Amino acid sequence: MKELSKGNTEIAAEFIQKAVGGDLFKIDTAKPYSTSYMTCIEEAKAELRADARPELKAYPENFEDYDTIFVGYPNWWGTMPMCMFTMLEKYDTTGKTIIPFCTNEGSGMGSSERDLKKLCGGAVIKKGLSIHGAETQHSESKIAEWAKRSV
Ligand SMILES: Cc1cc2nc3c(=O)[nH]c(=O)nc-3n(C[C@H](O)[C@H](O)[C@H](O)COP(=O)(O)O)c2cc1C
Repeated sequence: MKELSKGNTEIAAEFIQKAVGGDLFKIDTAKPYSTSYMTCIEEAKAELRADARPELKAYPENFEDYDTIFVGYPNWWGTMPMCMFTMLEKYDTTGKTIIPFCTNEGSGMGSSERDLKKLCGGAVIKKGLSIHGAETQHSESKIAEWAKRSV
């Protein structure tokens, strides 16, 4: 366990942008999670159990202008953090192509692809990429190749 100045998912997102271009948008909650890992995982578990929709700091202004969206997140308790549900429920993704990627420490994509299909009914959800979180920094070529293949 260590505190990262830049998270694994953000590093992966930057590799994708370098490989295929596009704009980055970081999803952040209005209320920060605890900096203590053990407290944070309990907060996350409580949100999952409550099927919560934590408020976000900001939303992208021109979501509708994008046809293809890479959606990245860490695996939290087997799926996406609940703020991803907050975000994706807010928009109509009909006709868009969603390409998921998930950093994790062993659970892979978990049920996130299934959850994305439920949330984004009218979208095409492409096969996602699972990235071992601790190896993200050294996975640029794997991430870049997958991103290029996926668009
Ligand atoms: C609240 C919380 C729950 C997590 N749950 C899982 C899990 O169920 N399975 C797993 O493989 N990794 C789990 N992890 C590890 C993260 O998915 C992994 O460290 C990820 O790369 C973190 O990405 P980030 O640096 O962008 O936040 C969890 C981490 C946190 C903080």
